[in-house]
Amino acid sequence: MSETSVLFVCLGNICRSPLAEGVFLHLLAERGLSERYRVDSAGTSAYHAGEQADERSIAVGRKHGVAVPSISRKLVPEDYERFDWIVAMDGQNLTNMKRDCPPAHTGKLVKMRDYDPQGKGDVPDPYYGGPRGFDDVYEMVYRCCERFLDELEGRA
Ligand code: 4NP
Repeated sequence: MSETSVLFVCLGNICRSPLAEGVFLHLLAERGLSERYRVDSAGTSAYHAGEQADERSIAVGRKHGVAVPSISRKLVPEDYERFDWIVAMDGQNLTNMKRDCPPAHTGKLVKMRDYDPQGKGDVPDPYYGGPRGFDDVYEMVYRCCERFLDELEGRA
């Protein structure tokens, strides 16, 4: 069976998209689907390139048994070709990608909270907030990733 590839994208690639990547990998493992997917994350900026995820993202993941192994990297033009799905955490990330993405690939661009059963909008940037922000982001990203994977697997 062919592989499906998914790239999660935020601004810094240290808070939200690494958490989404970790949660999605966790769900794949739980469902026995790890071999069928390739998963990565990236940032529209290079502000934190080469860094581990923010310790608050790692901590909230650990609290839920979810590993957050990402090393930050900037989104590159080749990503638009190399991934089947590119999932933006907020509207600004999506706007930036729509600006740069070759027209042939814009259909791959989606927003994380389009898959949120509890409401649409942005995954808010928790970088400058307190740890409660990371708990909220975790819950939001978790329910979105569940629904997104359900849809990819034709169960939604
Ligand atoms: P992220 O959060 O986009 O969820 O990784 C941010 C991390 C760092 C910065 C902004 C957002 N920053 O400006 O350095």
